[in-house]
Amino acid sequence: MEEKIVEFPVAGVSLTDRFRRPLRDLRISVMDRCNFRCPYCMPEDKYHKDFQFLKTAERLSFTEIVRLARIFSGFGVHKLRITGGEPLLRSNLQDLIGDLSRIDGIDDIALTTNGILLAQQAAALKAAGLDRVTVSLDSLDDEVFDVMTGGRGSKDRVLEGIREAGQSGLLPIKINAVVRKGLNDATVPDLVEHFRGTGIIVRFIEYMDVGTINHWQFSETVPARELVERINARWPISPAEQNYHGEVANRYLFEDGQGEIGFIASVTAPFCGSCTRARLSSDGKLFTCLFASEGTDLRGPLRAGASDQELEEVIGAAWSGREDRYSELRARQAEPGSKVEMYYIGG
Ligand code: GTP
Ligand code: 5AD
Ligand code: SF4
Ligand code: SF4
Repeated sequence: MEEKIVEFPVAGVSLTDRFRRPLRDLRISVMDRCNFRCPYCMPEDKYHKDFQFLKTAERLSFTEIVRLARIFSGFGVHKLRITGGEPLLRSNLQDLIGDLSRIDGIDDIALTTNGILLAQQAAALKAAGLDRVTVSLDSLDDEVFDVMTGGRGSKDRVLEGIREAGQSGLLPIKINAVVRKGLNDATVPDLVEHFRGTGIIVRFIEYMDVGTINHWQFSETVPARELVERINARWPISPAEQNYHGEVANRYLFEDGQGEIGFIASVTAPFCGSCTRARLSSDGKLFTCLFASEGTDLRGPLRAGASDQELEEVIGAAWSGREDRYSELRARQAEPGSKVEMYYIGG
């Protein structure tokens, strides 16, 4: 796999990691539980009814999250993404969004959801200050949808959630579809056809080896290049410019003017060189890579009465010592013994 570390200067930001990557984007997991059981993320046999999720007191409170987000914004973070598990399972989420939206320097707050509870919450989230949503939807075929979500979802309710999000102005709406060979790759064209011309941006994601419970094998990943070729043969598409430096999706426009589509080639064309993302788990651990095995505990110092300056030192040390570039090294290294699971830090 090609190795590329892009070095780039960013004006006004002093905190950079070992590869001079600044910290721009904080992804906050507010809930480790999920109401789906996608086999590639939370297989039912492991996440059964007796599985011990975090207790309420173990999760960061809204006050603690907002305090940390404010400190992160001081380091140059301008974009927040709220994730889970399923973030809409966290009660009163709109209150958190409201507080986050008032932090100086935060200009984009997005939410990643499976969409099942979106219809009833979209308007309140928008009113509180949420800018946009990304909805996970791997297939429009009822049977395939059931297989991909572990039989707990309802495609119609997800579609209703997407409609309501659109009406509430949570725009642009993006759809994330993970593609697994032999499972949902045959239903890719349906997703393209359904959302083309609606303003909703579908992004196909290469199935990755996050965590250890999904027993990932490369043979299950459909390279983005293959999907681009298949889609282009039916609906001609042309590459478009990045919206911002470090955007993970490769954007394409339909040549007939029917909108945009994206491909996230995290396995076959890694983008670690421009990775400016930090992740905060719902129990307050800071992860500097999606594939990390360990995080830096922020809840301990928070609850022990640390000052802002002390928290800044912990966060600053974690980021400035960061050397993560797992996806670029994947092909060459032995599998690490343990990796954090996706549902726990959101993706
Ligand atoms: P935008 O702000 O809309 O550009 O969002 P985004 O594309 O950065 O975020 P999103 O959470 O929608 O990312 C989509 C998918 O890309 C995730 O679910 C992951 O599968 C993958 N992804 C996002 N960030 C990373 C990353 O840092 N590393 C890797 N390997 N994959 C990532
Ligand atoms: N590979 C790629 N994407 C994944 N997601 C969850 N697990 C994986 C994986 N192994 C996606 C979800 C959702 C987002 C949070 O991450 O489908 O869209
Ligand atoms: Fe839940 Fe998303 Fe994981 Fe599916 S992929 S189990 S919807 S967190
Ligand atoms: Fe960033 Fe780690 Fe993903 Fe590379 S593998 S893009 S360093 S989160």
